[in-house]
Amino acid sequence: MNEMRGLFDKIKNLVVYDADKEFYAKIFPDSVSKKDLLRFRTMTTADLPAVLAIERKNYQFPWEEDVFTDCFKAGYGCYVCEAMDKVLGYCLLSIAVGEAHVLNISVAADEQGQGIGRKMLQFLVETARGRAETVFLEVRVSNEIAIALYQDEGFNEIGIRKAYYPAIDGREDAMMLALQLF
Ligand SMILES: CC(C)(COP(=O)(O)OP(=O)(O)OC[C@H]1O[C@@H](n2cnc3c(N)ncnc32)[C@H](O)[C@@H]1OP(=O)(O)O)[C@@H](O)C(=O)NCCC(=O)NCCS
Repeated sequence: MNEMRGLFDKIKNLVVYDADKEFYAKIFPDSVSKKDLLRFRTMTTADLPAVLAIERKNYQFPWEEDVFTDCFKAGYGCYVCEAMDKVLGYCLLSIAVGEAHVLNISVAADEQGQGIGRKMLQFLVETARGRAETVFLEVRVSNEIAIALYQDEGFNEIGIRKAYYPAIDGREDAMMLALQLF
């Protein structure tokens, strides 16, 4: 019983702490950093307008709405990262037969370079831990920023898929990366 109460108090404190941070951020915007306000939650259809707006700005060949809804239907892990109820980024992960695949990871153009992408990648890796042995992903060989992030988080190059992506002037190769989880 005491253990239950202890657990309850812990959860209550966490919730109060988060609510406090948002309260202070509203009153004193400079007193709380954006990183402290980041939250992850499952993406819903209501998020799609915000998600698609980011997607269309970030990619020359963006996913259309049906790709996101197919991911929902397939039961993939679809998450948004938000602060103060504003979607700043999103990430999607599939897990099957011991393999996790990062399907998309994307931060709003005007929110990049503040550590949000790294937080999302770490979140996906933690989501996969215990359910998959390896996390895989593919990235355009020209996407130096994303490659730097993945390698810094411990992903290793495992191969190149020739002409994997459409490109303005033909096709572009994909770099395949993997992270062992144990
Ligand atoms: C790739 C992406 C998700 C990274 O997210 P982000 O929030 O901008 O990145 P972070 O601020 O977490 O930075 C993580 C690392 O990325 C690299 N990076 C970020 N911005 C960079 C820049 N302008 N120039 C060079 N490297 C950069 C750095 O290695 C950085 O680590 P550091 O802060 O220790 O130097 C984001 O840039 C994005 O959404 N890009 C468009 C969509 C995309 O290409 N997605 C990946 C598809 S595979």
